[in-house]
Amino acid sequence: MGSKLGVGILGVGEMGKRHAYNMRHLVPEARAIAVADVAADRARQVAAELEIEHSFGSLEEMLSHKEIQAVVIATPDKFHAPAIQIAAAAGKDILCEKPIATNLPDALAALQAVAKAGVRLQIGFMRHYDPAYHAAMQRIEAGEIGDPVIFKSVGRDKDVPPLSAYQSNINGMLFYNSTIHDFDLARWLMQDEVVEVHAYTTTTIRPEVAQYGDVVAGVVNLKYARGAIGNVESYVQALYAYDVRTEIVGSKGSILVGSLQKTPATFLSVNGGTEILADHFLSRFADAYLAQAQDFVHRMLRELPPRVSGADGLKALGMAVAAEQSHRLGTPCKVTLE
Ligand SMILES: NC(=O)c1ccc[n+]([C@@H]2O[C@H](COP(=O)([O-])OP(=O)(O)OC[C@H]3O[C@@H](n4cnc5c(N)ncnc54)[C@H](O)[C@@H]3O)[C@@H](O)[C@H]2O)c1
Repeated sequence: MGSKLGVGILGVGEMGKRHAYNMRHLVPEARAIAVADVAADRARQVAAELEIEHSFGSLEEMLSHKEIQAVVIATPDKFHAPAIQIAAAAGKDILCEKPIATNLPDALAALQAVAKAGVRLQIGFMRHYDPAYHAAMQRIEAGEIGDPVIFKSVGRDKDVPPLSAYQSNINGMLFYNSTIHDFDLARWLMQDEVVEVHAYTTTTIRPEVAQYGDVVAGVVNLKYARGAIGNVESYVQALYAYDVRTEIVGSKGSILVGSLQKTPATFLSVNGGTEILADHFLSRFADAYLAQAQDFVHRMLRELPPRVSGADGLKALGMAVAAEQSHRLGTPCKVTLE
């Protein structure tokens, strides 16, 4: 094995293709050896386009390539935990997209497999690597806003998802697939654990989504172990932009992360003001996905622990499970990891 990390990418849809591109072209310490996708034609096509040597129709086939040392998992959510178990058993380090799983037993089984194999697992909470969130965290750690008191986060996707996205039931509902990013931020930026959540949800503008157990928007109130409070809002079809914002209010100040602007400039004309709005996660978080890939590879090559751990994935998932329970029961629910 050389000085580069041999990487295989599983699931090369929208997200996985970006990971494969980054690993192949923008992470000098990585050697993107192969991609695999249950749609073998797609794997072949992506491999050809990105100039990656090998393509496979399954994880098992890809793992037979001995030079692969680490696997990036970017399949739909439901397949994350089984893929982690298979990759771990083969002795590979893993960067897995969020969520770690769509239920706690699957997540615990995946973590057990990782521990048993002695491999390392990083969860793709890439906002830790976003320059704005990273700067916010540095100031929080430096004590600039004192003790965190209130956490507020907004996550709104832009386009109306096709109904098939709900029907297939392979991605977790809103709390698992989208709000999970904010649940992770809620722990990370507040440096505390959420012990109770109370969710309100709606399907009012698209009632047909309810039959698939999903919702169009949700707000979740949070109660922290040390007494702080919070609120997270998620909405799948904002239409106007991809809108991600967070505020951490402390005893000595507040930090606001995110604006609607893609570039920090305001464009004025005789017709008034215009702004270029962020329209997609792949553009808003492009730097974060790349920094995440670079840092993961750097750490794996040097036997360092991952920056965002499997335990972080489990704890954010615990919040999503409690939020779903609260949505169904209509009452506040405690966060547990069992
Ligand atoms: N971190 C982020 O900001 C972010 C953004 C988007 C998506 N994601 C996550 O990335 C994952 C993929 O999302 P996407 O939008 O790329 O989905 P997608 O539907 O575009 O792509 C999924 C790909 O996985 C393949 N696939 C399905 N089942 C498979 C299996 N069992 N084994 C191998 N390949 C399989 C499909 O053929 C497809 O090519 C999801 O878990 C999603 O939650 C994360």
